[in-house]
Amino acid sequence: MSRRGASPVLVGRTAEMAALQAALETVRRGDPAAMLIGGEAGMGKTRLIGEFTTVARDAGARVLTGACLELGADGLPFSPFTAMLRDFVRESDAGEIGSLLSGSGRAARELARLLPEFAARREAGDDGQPAVSALADDGRTSIRTAGEARAQLFEGFLTLLERLAAHRPVVLIVEDAHWADRSSRDLLAFLIGYQRALRGVLIVVTFRSDELHRTHPLRPLLAELARVEWVERHELPRLTRGQAEELATAILGTSPDRALADSIFQRAEGNPLFTEELLLCAGQCDAVPDTLADLLLQAVRRLPEDSQDVLRIASAGSGVTSDALLAQVTGLGAAELAAAIRPAVAANVLVAHADGYGFRHALIQEAVHADLLPGEHSAVHTRFAQAIEAEPELVSRGRVEIEKSHHWYSAHNTTGALVSAWHAAVQTSNRMAHAERLMLLDRVLELWEQVPNAATLIGADRVRVLQEAASAADDAGELQRGLAIAELALTLVDEATDPLRYALLLERRSSFRSSLGMGTRIADLRRALALVPASLSTQARTQLLLSGARCTDNDPEFRDWAEEALEYAREDGDPDAEGHALASLAMMEAGASQMAGPGSKPLELLAEAARVLERTDAFHRSLKLAILESHLLCGAGEFEQAARAAQEGIVDAERHGLARTGGAFLAINVAEPLFHLGRWDEAAEVAERALDLAPPPLTRAALWLILGWLAAARGDLETALRRAASARAVLSGAVYEDQYHLPLATFDIAITLATQGPVQATDLAAELITRYDLQKSSPRWVWPLLTTAAYAARRAPGEAAASLLHELRLSAGKLAAFGPVQEAWQLSFTALAGALAGSADSASEDAVPVNPLAAADAAADAWEAVGQPFPAVLALIHAGRTALAARATREAASRLRRAAPLAERLGVGPLAAEITDLTRRVGPDSDAGDPVLTGRELEVLRLVAAGRSNREIATALVISPKTASVHVSNILAKLGAATRTEAAVKAHQLLLL
Ligand SMILES: Nc1ncnc2c1ncn2[C@@H]1O[C@H](COP(=O)(O)OP(=O)(O)O)[C@@H](O)[C@H]1O
Ligand SMILES: [Mg+2]
Repeated sequence: MSRRGASPVLVGRTAEMAALQAALETVRRGDPAAMLIGGEAGMGKTRLIGEFTTVARDAGARVLTGACLELGADGLPFSPFTAMLRDFVRESDAGEIGSLLSGSGRAARELARLLPEFAARREAGDDGQPAVSALADDGRTSIRTAGEARAQLFEGFLTLLERLAAHRPVVLIVEDAHWADRSSRDLLAFLIGYQRALRGVLIVVTFRSDELHRTHPLRPLLAELARVEWVERHELPRLTRGQAEELATAILGTSPDRALADSIFQRAEGNPLFTEELLLCAGQCDAVPDTLADLLLQAVRRLPEDSQDVLRIASAGSGVTSDALLAQVTGLGAAELAAAIRPAVAANVLVAHADGYGFRHALIQEAVHADLLPGEHSAVHTRFAQAIEAEPELVSRGRVEIEKSHHWYSAHNTTGALVSAWHAAVQTSNRMAHAERLMLLDRVLELWEQVPNAATLIGADRVRVLQEAASAADDAGELQRGLAIAELALTLVDEATDPLRYALLLERRSSFRSSLGMGTRIADLRRALALVPASLSTQARTQLLLSGARCTDNDPEFRDWAEEALEYAREDGDPDAEGHALASLAMMEAGASQMAGPGSKPLELLAEAARVLERTDAFHRSLKLAILESHLLCGAGEFEQAARAAQEGIVDAERHGLARTGGAFLAINVAEPLFHLGRWDEAAEVAERALDLAPPPLTRAALWLILGWLAAARGDLETALRRAASARAVLSGAVYEDQYHLPLATFDIAITLATQGPVQATDLAAELITRYDLQKSSPRWVWPLLTTAAYAARRAPGEAAASLLHELRLSAGKLAAFGPVQEAWQLSFTALAGALAGSADSASEDAVPVNPLAAADAAADAWEAVGQPFPAVLALIHAGRTALAARATREAASRLRRAAPLAERLGVGPLAAEITDLTRRVGPDSDAGDPVLTGRELEVLRLVAAGRSNREIATALVISPKTASVHVSNILAKLGAATRTEAAVKAHQLLLL
């Protein structure tokens, strides 16, 4: 039997149904698929989903559906996902749930935060009671970081889906995403981004496309998802005239007459919801109402008064309202309530669900609610708030405070709204819904002035609320907002009477500023430390000291701070702080070198930190240690060890339910050393797999760069360009960090050289070396940049290239080279660009003549010694060319013989071809070789290229002008050049200079 007024059959929508079914087949095959379905309100999204649900279940799939709810300005964090879990728990037995989550301790605990019913045992802090960490002075003393906990929550969900989908496909449906809270949007993006690895799960999202105004928060998410290759977007069109008539026929059970069909199609314009209402009205109303809202109210107005009263009250509820709550807010007994509801259900205004009643369509609920008089409006919301306050069990756990806050706010009860928003904020902090927490705290602050005794009511003053808000803003990544909050709080605290708070706020402000790239933190931190001597609080002082130790500037003052922090941490028996201090000291010890070999002080300090942290639960810090250790080892050329350390970190991350997030970052530190070792297939696999995990932007950029180098080295320039563009898109918006921006700059020069030639590459290099502050950057990243720039400049003719080489030599002259890898870079640089006379602080800016072949050999040896075959091949080719230019064919041949097997092992097509070509030129019976110039001629050529006249050349080389002119003629002849300029250009192309 169909519901009154509804069509028993689905009209049209065959294309969409087919697409959904095809997508289900796709995931059944193990490939990813997601579908975004937009449409105006009433267009049939829910109906389509409903029909598909039936089909999918019949085909053996498990369908999980969760709808987003409109709850005024309050987001109900993760509401569609909580709803899904609740349904799932209701449908499954405890054994099934237990086995699904076995062995994923952390993940299961995080899921229990999302839905307390999920865990058999209740965890402290889950029931809305303030958790200690959330109420600690600054919200930062919590051992776990907000990011870590949230990542665990996301992974918990993922684990659950993975296991559910192990045996049969899962369809996950998020309805009405235009109302989704930010946390749900984040989780949705995470799940879809991760789908390549989440086999067997189809994700379907519906949303009202007519609600998406220009600044609607769903827009950027839809745009982001549209770029994911397995995401399909469909827009439900209006029904055609023929379909509308079909719908009318299905509802009426007989074809409508022509006039009725015409008028309905004209009014409803193919919208199924309005078509239904108009049909109902046509049978019963005296006149068709003017507005669509009135049309939707027709069915309501025809109901008995009692039913209408219930509906008016129910319209203030959110989503499905339980019988018990309806009874409370209406004040009716069970029998009376049932009697009042029955006609509303019969008229298909209300729909019965497993856990209560909901309006058939949100538009009807909106129309009824909008129809309330202002006084009634406040009154019904007050009833809801009071009912929930009296009996919190009436709504599901975790929603109590947020619902109360929403109803009190809608009822204009500022006190109630403020108090419950505060409690809800505290509760939300346990649920890793940072954006919602910030919104709730914003409400507390908004209402603060209107509630005279607010501080007494919530047991916290305004500054405390601001501190919490700043912490939420930090966790939610709302840095500008956080900075504004911290600034405001600082104006409210008296430095003299409350130095501790003032200092912590200064630290907070400095942290926002530095994240926003607004300069150094040192001044604020110094001031903060002056305010908090150890006698006031060693714990707070330690926190401030360690915050300073996080600064990237390598000031000796920071080392003192880290050491002082270490002392307090040991005295106070705080292993987390101790480990943090030790790790900071290790990085300071490594300093600008950004490298450390086995047995070195930095690695010893890291090992000590690891031992200390073993005593704690501070997983994120251990993870950090693995990152630091592998980073330093890789910088020292200990590639095998570096990869191993990072790999162990990944295993550890998996144990903590953080394989995707923490693990993805560590993948950079696995892939990079593997790339250096020439184990390119493995490096590519690690990087690709990590990218499937949808890691955060900076991690992605670093992985793209590794894959870009790989593609470029293999001659796949198209892919290399694409990777570079992706990385650039992320990094152009990020605050400068040498370890990200300099490798990108280096790669950009290399790829420009390969695709556009040396002139463009030189121009780009000249711009890039002035764009960033190379003095303050680690030589680890500066050397590759300078060397690659020199490589391009050596191939370009003209003044610009010469002056770039000069600039590069100046920079290189001032740059230290730490460890074997940086030394190898330095040797490569010298082989290409020469060196500066004297030491770094010498005044001389002249290039010293170096023996080009010896320099190229030295570079090749250094690369081979450190175990990096790719730059070794490049250096050997350069040595071969250099020897060839000096007519030293035997030397040239031996360099090329060394290069050939290395290039072959790497599988680098373009370089192998270059080696073959050069070898052919070296061969005795080949006359296609580079022109052979004598040593003297090379000297003269260099001066010619520098634009000197014969007379100047003569003076410089202490020969007669006549001899100089003979040399020049010979050179022109050998190079086949008509003019001196042409000779200079050719000389550059042939790398003769
Ligand atoms: N293709 C269709 N065939 C039959 N009835 C439909 C169709 N599309 C929508 N309806 C009916 O129209 C009403 C509104 O549809 P609904 O799916 O709730 O819209 P939406 O979710 O897009 O707002 C429902 O009563 C639904 O049953
Ligand atoms: Mg709907």
